Amino acid sequence: MHKHKIGVIGGGLMGHGIAYLLAVAGHEVGVFEPDAETSASLPKRLQAIADLLGDDAALVQRIAAHEQMAAAVHGASFVFEAAPEKLPLKQRIFADLEGLVAPETILASNSSAIPTTEIGRDLKHRERVIGTHFWNPPHLVPLVEVIQNERTSAAVLRATMDLLREAGKVPVHVRRDVPGFVGNRLQHAMKREAIALVAAGVCDAETVDTVVKEGFGARTAVLGPMEQSDLVGLNLTLDIAEVLYGSLDNTPGPHPFLREKVKAGKLGMKTGEGLRAWAPGEADAVRARLSRFLAEQAKARKKSLD
Ligand SMILES: NC(=O)c1ccc[n+]([C@@H]2O[C@H](COP(=O)([O-])OP(=O)(O)OC[C@H]3O[C@@H](n4cnc5c(N)ncnc54)[C@H](O)[C@@H]3O)[C@@H](O)[C@H]2O)c1
Repeated sequence: MHKHKIGVIGGGLMGHGIAYLLAVAGHEVGVFEPDAETSASLPKRLQAIADLLGDDAALVQRIAAHEQMAAAVHGASFVFEAAPEKLPLKQRIFADLEGLVAPETILASNSSAIPTTEIGRDLKHRERVIGTHFWNPPHLVPLVEVIQNERTSAAVLRATMDLLREAGKVPVHVRRDVPGFVGNRLQHAMKREAIALVAAGVCDAETVDTVVKEGFGARTAVLGPMEQSDLVGLNLTLDIAEVLYGSLDNTPGPHPFLREKVKAGKLGMKTGEGLRAWAPGEADAVRARLSRFLAEQAKARKKSLD
């Protein structure tokens, strides 16, 4: 595998995980993080990932934090941007990058929702701008949605997919720069119905979670919705759709139930109540359970690839 010099812009939640997974793959990573405190905590946060995954701590040495963007991206063949989700900021970063790297350096944005068409709008070399949507935490969740915009070249798409695949990720090609790409559209289609069910009093929020986790969620990791539809047969899928679709929620915009929660300051775990109530310690237990589960999955996956 070819070893690259790779730049990561922003060393926050996503940036440090992206830097880590690229370093595991043997690449030299430079991270530009302008906030001094966040930058200073980078080695400790990277070490925590190595501890969680039982990786050789020496690989953290392949990641260097920089106070200047120029130093972080010097000689880079790829740059992954994971700065805050603000269009003007991302546009400025990409404009600066164009002056700092070679014309063929691939510029990837981890934006959750901003089209890379907009981020790269004013660049000279737009064919090298691409979306790489990692899922949190990026070092544990395998999927990366690779979003090709109207200008992204086939060669840039291929090189990005290859780099991510060789780093042990599961990249998928999203052919159009649509809001939410694929994963968040699916996730929010489900959330929309879940919130409407609770708002209508059909069941409580805990029941929704139980239905997903103990029901179709129990098989989702090994059976996607298209496979499942083909498994039961499309005639049955159509019969169910005929009965069901007319009664699914189609409230235009976010459901008033969700808006009211936010207005009342019921934001979820951080305020002690959201869709469910969170007694002290319960939220931490959920976070620990998730982290343990994802780390076990990642370790099992690595073993099966070795
Ligand atoms: N958090 C998630 O679950 C998630 C998932 C997928 C994608 N994303 C996307 O990833 C990006 C980063 O999100 P995050 O959750 O890591 O945010 P974050 O706030 O944890 O990290 C962003 C970092 O960028 C730094 N920064 C600020 N200005 C900068 C600049 N001019 N240049 C470089 N760095 C700068 C900040 O100091 C901060 O450390 C966003 O576009 C977000 O939408 C987030």
